[in-house]
This record gives sequence, C-alpha cells and structure tokens, in this order.
Amino acid sequence: MVTSQVRTLPVPGLLRPELIATCQQALDLDADEVPAMVRRLADPPSQRRSYALVAGAADGVAVASVDDREPTVGHLDLLAVRPAAQGHGTGRALVLAAEQALAAAGVREVRWAGNPPCYLWPGVDVGYTPAICCALALGYQQYRAAHNVVADLRAIDLDTTGTETRLAAAGVTVRAAAPADRTMLLDWARSTWNDTWADEIAAALDPDRPTGGCHIAIRDVAVLGFAVYGANRPSWFGPMGTDPAARGLGVGSVLLRRCLAQQRAAGIRRVQIAWAGPIAFYSRAVGGRLGRIFWQLRRELR
Ligand SMILES: CC(C)(COP(=O)(O)OP(=O)(O)OC[C@H]1O[C@@H](n2cnc3c(N)ncnc32)[C@H](O)[C@@H]1OP(=O)(O)O)[C@@H](O)C(=O)NCCC(=O)NCCS
Repeated sequence: MVTSQVRTLPVPGLLRPELIATCQQALDLDADEVPAMVRRLADPPSQRRSYALVAGAADGVAVASVDDREPTVGHLDLLAVRPAAQGHGTGRALVLAAEQALAAAGVREVRWAGNPPCYLWPGVDVGYTPAICCALALGYQQYRAAHNVVADLRAIDLDTTGTETRLAAAGVTVRAAAPADRTMLLDWARSTWNDTWADEIAAALDPDRPTGGCHIAIRDVAVLGFAVYGANRPSWFGPMGTDPAARGLGVGSVLLRRCLAQQRAAGIRRVQIAWAGPIAFYSRAVGGRLGRIFWQLRRELR
C-alpha cells in the first residue's frame, strides 16, 4: 500500500486551485458548488479552531474543526481523495492526521455531523458510500441521521403578494434584512433562538458572501420571524424560524418563498432546504420533497 504523506496547511491555503480540483473530482454529488464550499471552509468564523490537511501534492484534503460550543468535541468537516488516488490508504491517513490535530487541541470525541454555523453537510451523504465505509472501518458509529428537503424552483409559484397584503393589514411588514438591521436581528436571534442560528444570519448578511441573504417579518419594532439562504452554500436554504406567538399567520411561508425567489433569480433551480425539521411545512409551502440523507457518525478518541 502506498500512502501519501500528510501535512498541515494554513486554512486559507485550501483555496489553491489544485486542492479545489481534488475536491471537485472527489465530491461528485456536489460538483457545481465545490469552489464555494471550499471558500466557506477556508474562511471560518474568527473564533473557530480549524485544521487543513493535505496528502501528497494534492492527492487528498481534509478539514477538521473544534466545536465552537463543546471544546471536547471535534468535527471532520471535509474529506476528499482524488479518484485516481483512492483505495491506497490516503483517506485513512487523512482521518488519522485530523484526529491527531483535534486530540492535540483537547478533543475527545470526533463527529462527522456538521459543525454549524460553518458547515458543508449535516453528516455524510449516504450517496458517498465509500466515505461511510471508510468511517465505519475507522471505528466510527452512526448515532443519528439528518435529511434535506428539496424544493424544485422550476415548478413552484413563489408569489407572496396576497399573503403580504393580508399581513400588512395586520401590521406585519416583510422585507429583506438590511445591514442596519444586523445588531438588532442578531440580538433577537440569540435571545429567541440560539447562537448558532444568529451566526448563520451573520454569515448570510456578510457582504463578502453575495449569494446569501435574510428576510424578516416585523411588527412595530418586534421581529416575528426570519429566514436565511446561502449562509454556507449558495443553493442551500436555512435556518428559519417564526416566533411561537406569531405562528399560523403565514409569516414562515412568505419568508421561505421570498428567499427561494432570490435563489431562483440567481439562477438556482433546485434548493436544498438544509437539515430540515418540519417536513410537512416545507412540503405544503413549496412542494418540498425529502432528498439527501446524511448519516451522523462519531468516535471517542482514546
Ligand atoms: C471516502 C474517501 C475519502 C476514501 O479515501 P481512500 O483514500 O480511498 O480511502 P482509504 O484507501 O484510506 O480506505 C480506508 C478504508 O475505508 C474503506 N473504504 C474506502 N473506500 C471504500 C470503498 N469504495 N468501498 C468500501 N470501503 C471503502 C475501507 O475499509 C478502507 O480500508 P481497507 O481498504 O484497508 O479495508 C474517498 O472515497 C473519497 O474521496 N470519496 C469522495 C469524497 C467523500 O465522499 N467525502 C465525504 C464527504 S466529507
């Protein structure tokens, strides 16, 4: 067995064209979006401890990170070996090197499960079956699953005029969040939801990420709901949330449709509603169908 030597790389070095090419060849289920995905991991939130590992010149790439909130938990954010180099121990060597980097940072459990707010998948897509096999062979166990819901933007009506007129009569305004809303919105998201969702809103509003955005519903000065698109990946949607007291008014479906309309205007035909919770809501609101299934795997380091 010939195994490429693994070395660490400063995280922005992931943007080297030969490494993006490796990811593009290996990640065939995500091919269109790979450059944007690598850019996301190459520019993680400032507090995050991330590690980039490369095998050989560009045979394979891995990215690992410490969980922002649970410092004894680490994540494998990306693993890709170019097809011509697969089957020779490179994936194994990258995972072991990622585990070593994480262990040195104090991590005791490693997960392949997405590390929001900056993540590419909520686990390993079951369609990446060799990666699932690789994880199992290295002692990881599946502990949960997550799924996306797909909205086919070619087939759905995204007009919100009628509902917005009704909401306006009830004093509710729906609009795109502006830079000036940022502080108020993040404070609201942290107190009403959680830090992770607030950070995803911040990512979507980042002027350096023009494929992202956020729509909000407001009554007087109170935010009633939000929906985010493109925070991590241009064709992905989420998170979204409507304040419990404002549910049932149509706020959520208007916010969802507004975001999908922007994604459609950007040329996206199928949106992945990421890590979807309320399947019935997405099914009814935009004809969403269950799509990608992800296994979440973990292993304790000893
Ligand atoms: C998953 C991947 C990284 C494995 O890389 P690799 O260099 O081929 O893996 P290795 O040669 O080190 O294999 C390690 C173990 O994984 C398992 N494995 C790897 N490929 C496999 C396959 N096609 N079928 C079954 N098991 C496989 C085996 O148990 C193997 O050990 P063994 O051959 O000693 O039994 C590679 O297939 C890949 O890049 N896939 C596409 C990218 C991807 O799916 N990434 C996951 C999203 S993060």
